[in-house]
Amino acid sequence: MHIGTPLSRTATRVMLLGAGELGKEVIIALQRLGVEVIAVDRYDGAPGHQVAHRAQTIDMTDGNVLARLIDSEKPAIVVPEIEAIATETLVALERAGLCRVIPSARAANLTMNREGIRRLAAEELKLPTSRYAFADSLASLRAAVEGPEGIGFPCIIKPVMSSSGKGQSRVEGPDDLGTAWDYANAGGRVNKGRVIVEGFVDFEYEITLLTVRAYAASGEVETHFCAPIGHIQVKGDYVESWQPQAMRPEALKRAQAIAKAVTDNLGGVGLYGVECFVKGDEVWFSEVSPRPHDTGMVTMISQKQSEFELHARAILGLPVDVSLRSPGASAVIYGGIDATGVRFEGVDAALRIPGTDLRLFGKPVSYTNRRMGVALAEGEDTDQARQRAKLAAALVRPGV
Ligand SMILES: Nc1ncnc2c1ncn2[C@@H]1O[C@H](COP(=O)(O)OP(=O)(O)O)[C@@H](O)[C@H]1O
Ligand SMILES: [Mg+2]
Repeated sequence: MHIGTPLSRTATRVMLLGAGELGKEVIIALQRLGVEVIAVDRYDGAPGHQVAHRAQTIDMTDGNVLARLIDSEKPAIVVPEIEAIATETLVALERAGLCRVIPSARAANLTMNREGIRRLAAEELKLPTSRYAFADSLASLRAAVEGPEGIGFPCIIKPVMSSSGKGQSRVEGPDDLGTAWDYANAGGRVNKGRVIVEGFVDFEYEITLLTVRAYAASGEVETHFCAPIGHIQVKGDYVESWQPQAMRPEALKRAQAIAKAVTDNLGGVGLYGVECFVKGDEVWFSEVSPRPHDTGMVTMISQKQSEFELHARAILGLPVDVSLRSPGASAVIYGGIDATGVRFEGVDAALRIPGTDLRLFGKPVSYTNRRMGVALAEGEDTDQARQRAKLAAALVRPGV
């Protein structure tokens, strides 16, 4: 594929569906390669809107609105950055040859719903996962958990369509099932009323295995694995990540085999984030993002090419290099307050810590639990990098 000149008749035009902090970095990577980028989000002034050639604000869950925008902008490539999109519309547009969807419209469609991807992984590909069941009512949830052969306690209940831990809770016993059901229904995005209940996996640690499908010189698609990323989640939301996560060779082998099986099936080109739970040599598939992963922000400091650059290159049919640069870590900076147009204090102090860097996403509105930025750090090892990143993140405080 040739890269043209932005804003001219030869432009290589890419549309990002979702323009949050992850989309913003993909856009920057594409901009550097001379691509014309249209950033789409559901609110004005989203992080990616601020760095794209054009910013569009629409309801991406409305298939008609989405199809109309794609028709008027005519991007060669559409890159979903979030899950809440009318993915059926993307499937239809791709089938009609109207655009290429990254990594593929089917991958975006299957992974937006926990049921699609879980059934594919466990039932079709026979990969190890937690035990699971689906329920559409509190009564059927109770039966799925407490019935004979039921999932039992503790278990995790999640809306089938949600991300970043929204609507998700861990349930210890029968008395808490009602609360978890209500919480899932309040937190789910669309398709309210359907949940997945998973048996709790008592893992030692969890990883994201960034897996890149990119064209080799031969014209074949090749699979590349980044070094595993370890991370800590609080209430289903990522707070800290580091790379590389030390793994036993057998566990790494199994994780890569799982990632290969899932990404081979989903196909296309681009970067995937494959989430696995690990205990000793045992590995369970948890879920997969067909796009850069939030825990992968660490790669902006730990790899020669960040996950965003890798995604951009793979999309454009260019070669990729997944090698590590240095052990690294990331730590999330939360809003801490509900306010518009916050000022960040302590940025200078954070950047005085050796080996650190920051990304402030530029979100127009801060909420207490909203991710507003991330501290990055390199180190001699991941322990040192984690210490530095956490310290730097703690020094940056949004205020009014
Ligand atoms: N079955 C499970 N057993 C143990 N922990 C789990 C399980 N499911 C989810 N978790 C924890 O919750 C986090 C978020 O769950 P996940 O399914 O990845 O939701 P999301 O799509 O919101 O990221 C996981 O990274 C893990 O820490
Ligand atoms: Mg996850």
